[in-house]
Amino acid sequence: MFDPKKIKRIAINTGGGDAPGLNAVIRAATLTAIHHGWEVFGVRHGYRGLEDPKELVPLTAESVRGITHLGGTILGTANRGNPFESVVKTPEGEKTVDISDQVVENFHKQRLDALICVGGDGSLRIASKFADKGIPLVGVPKTIDNDLSGTVATFGFDTAVSTATDAIDKLHSTAEAHERVMVVELMGRYAGHIALHSGVSGTADVILIPEIPFDLDKVCDKVLARERMGRHFTIIVCAEGAHPKGVEMMTKGPKQAGREILLGGIAQYVAQEVGKRTGKETRSLVLGHLQRGGGPTTFDRLLGLRFGAAAVRCLAEGKINVMVALDPPRIKTIPIAEAVKTMKAVDLNGDTMLTAREMGISFGD
Ligand code: F6P
Repeated sequence: MFDPKKIKRIAINTGGGDAPGLNAVIRAATLTAIHHGWEVFGVRHGYRGLEDPKELVPLTAESVRGITHLGGTILGTANRGNPFESVVKTPEGEKTVDISDQVVENFHKQRLDALICVGGDGSLRIASKFADKGIPLVGVPKTIDNDLSGTVATFGFDTAVSTATDAIDKLHSTAEAHERVMVVELMGRYAGHIALHSGVSGTADVILIPEIPFDLDKVCDKVLARERMGRHFTIIVCAEGAHPKGVEMMTKGPKQAGREILLGGIAQYVAQEVGKRTGKETRSLVLGHLQRGGGPTTFDRLLGLRFGAAAVRCLAEGKINVMVALDPPRIKTIPIAEAVKTMKAVDLNGDTMLTAREMGISFGD
């Protein structure tokens, strides 16, 4: 039985792809835990610190000083750090083994009382399995993709959208100068939130998202309609998971053991096809990890700080195996297993979609 009054030592980990705002979470969680008189440890590189105690580092008021505005994570992270599918090299190649029991044993050996897991869908799914194995924990939703259910926003998303919007703004002047079609590929995995939000804010002419498989002829119609109106350039924003009707998402290389398959290549394909079909000069670019880099926006800093403090508050109140979630104006909690059950896709009837359509933005449908 989890008794919050007995908490003495907690740990924090950050797993999966980084997102601006991670350090804000670490700082707020650490200072709030210290306020409760608890000792705090950072688990370096995802769950690795629970496999190897040398990767467990004390977090103090000094070690979290001056980090709120910094991108990345002072703890490091790992995309291939799933203890339920740990990758080992064998003479026959890489294979995966389940070392989760060893992690649970190490957690108790380190005399840790609870864990704060900061992660996206992958890392929180792992957290949910550790909760089932008896580790008292609280999840904090992180991802630039904003695809976690149960929370209005994840931290990192606002910063990624800002960076992408800035890039789209910059593309306008060169596209217009050369009378070209510019196609930019944005991250977001299987959801189109980043493409939709930055595409609308950056006044893109076409936005292609995974939720709406597109028809290339419709995309070309938009380019040619603009030509007829004397607008000799077009900006097409493509989510990396966007795909034509009846065609699979484009991926980069085969799936590697213990990690998600990488998406990519759709912008180049769209640029080539639009060029062939319309006779327009086209160029494509992939914004890539710039969307994850740099310091968090004020929104993401504050959300990170609020999530970090709320996670510790949950532990102090004895609320475990939950994820903190934004439900403006409050931070609420939902069972962690529920949070990772379904992906949050773009709401096709939502206000942002309606706004885009009403302003004449094409979704290639
Ligand atoms: O989930 C965050 C994310 O940035 C996705 O948008 C993208 O598909 C993926 O991670 C890229 O992963 P990696 O950092 O392994 O290239």
